Amino acid sequence: MNRPRIVVIGSLNMDIVFECEQLASPGQTVLAERTSQLPGGKGANQAVAAAKAGGIVSMIGRIGEDAFGRQLVSNLTLYDINTDHVMLTADHSSGTAAVMVDANGQNSIVVSAGANAQLTPDDLDVARHIIDQADILLLQLEIPLVTVEYAIELAHHLQIPVMLDPAPVTAEALKYKLFDVDLICPNQTEAETLTGVPSGTKETAAIAASELVRLGAKTCLVTMSDKGTILHDGTTSRFLESHQVNAIDSTAAGDAFAGAFAVRFTETKCLTLATHFASAAGALSATKRGAQPSMPTREDILAMSELKK
Ligand code: RIB
Repeated sequence: MNRPRIVVIGSLNMDIVFECEQLASPGQTVLAERTSQLPGGKGANQAVAAAKAGGIVSMIGRIGEDAFGRQLVSNLTLYDINTDHVMLTADHSSGTAAVMVDANGQNSIVVSAGANAQLTPDDLDVARHIIDQADILLLQLEIPLVTVEYAIELAHHLQIPVMLDPAPVTAEALKYKLFDVDLICPNQTEAETLTGVPSGTKETAAIAASELVRLGAKTCLVTMSDKGTILHDGTTSRFLESHQVNAIDSTAAGDAFAGAFAVRFTETKCLTLATHFASAAGALSATKRGAQPSMPTREDILAMSELKK
């Protein structure tokens, strides 16, 4: 089987991770039990997830001319990810994120975009020959929305399927043409922001998925954390259960899901197989700490996803 060629356009952040008993509430100071500095950023996380799941991956993004930027690129090269189009950005520091993780593995994240906010449509034109070779293009929303919108248009022009993970999302995203994609994979909160349909149950998640299809997405996957995924194939929706694990850190579980899905869907063209595979990848990533260090291997994902076929 030929390995799928995945291009990720998105963010690279250095995550400063604080492990705390509980997340800080507004006005509260809590003490961290441990602090670490780990490579992250939704784009780069998805690139690592896809590479470890079996893809040949290229990353397009921006870093600052600083030590964090150098570490972020060097980490991607460990997984043979092509970083020729991770561009240095003068006068901007690399993206950073403060990631708080509590004793139950739940997190709260603040991102400072830094150089990620400087990725322009012109940068994508420069990298067009890389995008043109992709079997699938992966996008998220930690770069300017105008660049995401342009990436979708360019992919259509080049006839390359697009998968959008609409994270992090704000109402601002509704001003852009982001729904005309082959696959969209919001979590429940993101689905609610995008559609106005209240999140919470399988039933409401299925309604939100139908609405995203009505708005233009060919296929929609609403991820519901450890519960499962609503898969809407453009006609009907159904619920696929998650794999149960002992989660210690859910950071980047959604990124693991998106990267793994892109690989398996390109290989099999089967939404069900790809969803089981992606859901196993998300669950496995939650059993390890950190974003990129937690991405599972293809062998481990296959071993878990075979159980649910
Ligand atoms: O999805 C997790 C990621 O969100 C973290 O790695 C952090 O950098 C933010 O982008």
